[in-house]
Amino acid sequence: MCGIVCYIGRQPALPILVEGLKRLEYRGYDSSGLAIHNGSEVQLVRELGPIRNLERKLGSSQWSGTSGIAHTRWATHGAPSEENAHPHGDCRGEIYVAHNGIIENYRELKSDLERRGHCFRSQTDTEVLAHLIEEFQDSSLEEATQQALERVIGTYGLAILSRKFPDKLVVARRGSPIILGIGAGETLAASDVSALLRHTRKVIYLQDGEIAVLEQDRFRILSHQQKWIRRSPETVEWDSEAAEMQGYPHFMLKEIHEQPEAIQNAMRGRLLWEEGTAKLGGLEAVADRLRQARHMIIVSCGSSYFAGLLGRYVLERLTSLSVEVELASEFRYRKLNFRKGTVVLAISQSGETADTLAAIREAKRKGALVLGLVNVVGSTLTRETDAGVYNHAGPEIGVASTKTFISQMVILHLIALFLGRQQEVPIAEGQRIQEGLQKLPDQVRHILSRQDRISDLARRYCGYHHFFYLGRKYNYPVALEGALKLKEIAYLHAEGYAAGEMKHGPLALIDEEFPSVCIVPRDSSYEKMVSNVQEIKARRGKVIALTSEQDGDICSLADEVFPLPSNLEILTPILAVVPLQLFAYYAALHRGCEIDRPRNLAKSVTVE
Ligand code: F6R
Repeated sequence: MCGIVCYIGRQPALPILVEGLKRLEYRGYDSSGLAIHNGSEVQLVRELGPIRNLERKLGSSQWSGTSGIAHTRWATHGAPSEENAHPHGDCRGEIYVAHNGIIENYRELKSDLERRGHCFRSQTDTEVLAHLIEEFQDSSLEEATQQALERVIGTYGLAILSRKFPDKLVVARRGSPIILGIGAGETLAASDVSALLRHTRKVIYLQDGEIAVLEQDRFRILSHQQKWIRRSPETVEWDSEAAEMQGYPHFMLKEIHEQPEAIQNAMRGRLLWEEGTAKLGGLEAVADRLRQARHMIIVSCGSSYFAGLLGRYVLERLTSLSVEVELASEFRYRKLNFRKGTVVLAISQSGETADTLAAIREAKRKGALVLGLVNVVGSTLTRETDAGVYNHAGPEIGVASTKTFISQMVILHLIALFLGRQQEVPIAEGQRIQEGLQKLPDQVRHILSRQDRISDLARRYCGYHHFFYLGRKYNYPVALEGALKLKEIAYLHAEGYAAGEMKHGPLALIDEEFPSVCIVPRDSSYEKMVSNVQEIKARRGKVIALTSEQDGDICSLADEVFPLPSNLEILTPILAVVPLQLFAYYAALHRGCEIDRPRNLAKSVTVE
């Protein structure tokens, strides 16, 4: 999500850190900052906005310090601002911390530290780390770090600088990458190899639970069993551009592959097993009003709208809410009856989509409780809603949404679980859904491991000009999403349809030149989907089926079969979307389309 870079060596650290930050800027940049040790003092600078703002603030500063840590932030806790920018300091300005990841128990840690007299200056989860380390100030920096981290629940890639220890920096990793760069007379570390490559190609990937001490001429690694261990550097062959994409040819493919992590991040700290429910901190303040709600209107655009359509099925299945889903751009034209207790949920990756913002403003005028499901922290939508939930999916750079769509689907399940458990969903069913959710990251990994098969399919089918995408029930919204992906990335005409609608008109288009992609898991609508496939086959239409069946009717009927792992019916769309994203990606690749920036489109649609 965010980016970290640190340096200790013989050269002034400032230009090296700034250059490293620029390499990481593609990961997100609502603010940035750095702390440098000049031998006796620590100099700190932080600024809102892109790195160029930080450079402007630094002006012609010639700081001579030769060790420092730097960070480019993509907000998760606390809006983008100078005071929330990293590095964060302790009470005495002795210890500075730059952090990627999420400290799940930061509220408890913060209250405890406040009771002990610590004074906080930011709204971030990160700041607790600086104060926690301060608690162990009599130990060495690495010991203090290790003791502090024992109290932390959550994920981190961490860089720490202490005024007391000018000759070392400490880094640590759990769940968020930290890579050491081993140079001649200098040691670096970063959250991403791209920030190291101008200095060295010799790197060491820190493992989860490890802490490393960086010094000018050496490094030491403390294992998670608290033993000092040796590890030899490996040599990176990529150039820095390829490194930004971590070896993927496009951001879209990288982001498709980040989906297991996006699912984990969407659920992290939010599942309460004992109670079979979900805990959504962002909704706590409005929990009572939500409990009384009887009617929900979801507003959103594009892929976020399709996630909302799935949300309707899931919310109606698990709660007694009646749910409507409205395209944000059409919202103003409806005379929606806002009953007492109407809740409006806006879904938006960017939080800046003009139509979605206009819709929530209208909903607020009508007195509704307005919630947001948003990826970009501090975006306009988060400031204008009464409460909400963040995706924590990290920046999405490819124009076509992938990992944020999957994350939206997961969080809508969590919202439904949270509300459903307050109504009729029994604890055992809540736990069953949790088990299903927890299987998803590995099942998505399994699908991703078979991407060559989809690439082959896409190569053979990308010469057709028209496609249907068909599904029923939970998989109908995913059929719409699959068709949208093919349109926007591969510039191929694709129509998503509820399979039951085919006989009401669209079937007339079917012939051998009009293939259909059908989502047919073994679930309550399986038999009906098989009948729809039969109707297509009877008209010589080609069928690509996604199915969890090993050898059922669908396997003999369809021209192509791509296997889906089995999971609860309600969760299958989260699996089915992955081959559809890959199909669009490879179709675009084989057709030579510009993938990350498709023609005529923008990542954030800020006009109505
Ligand atoms: C499609 C896509 C768009 C967005 C839509 C809404 O891949 O990304 O359809 O989903 O423009 O954007 P957000 O979610 O930022 O409001």
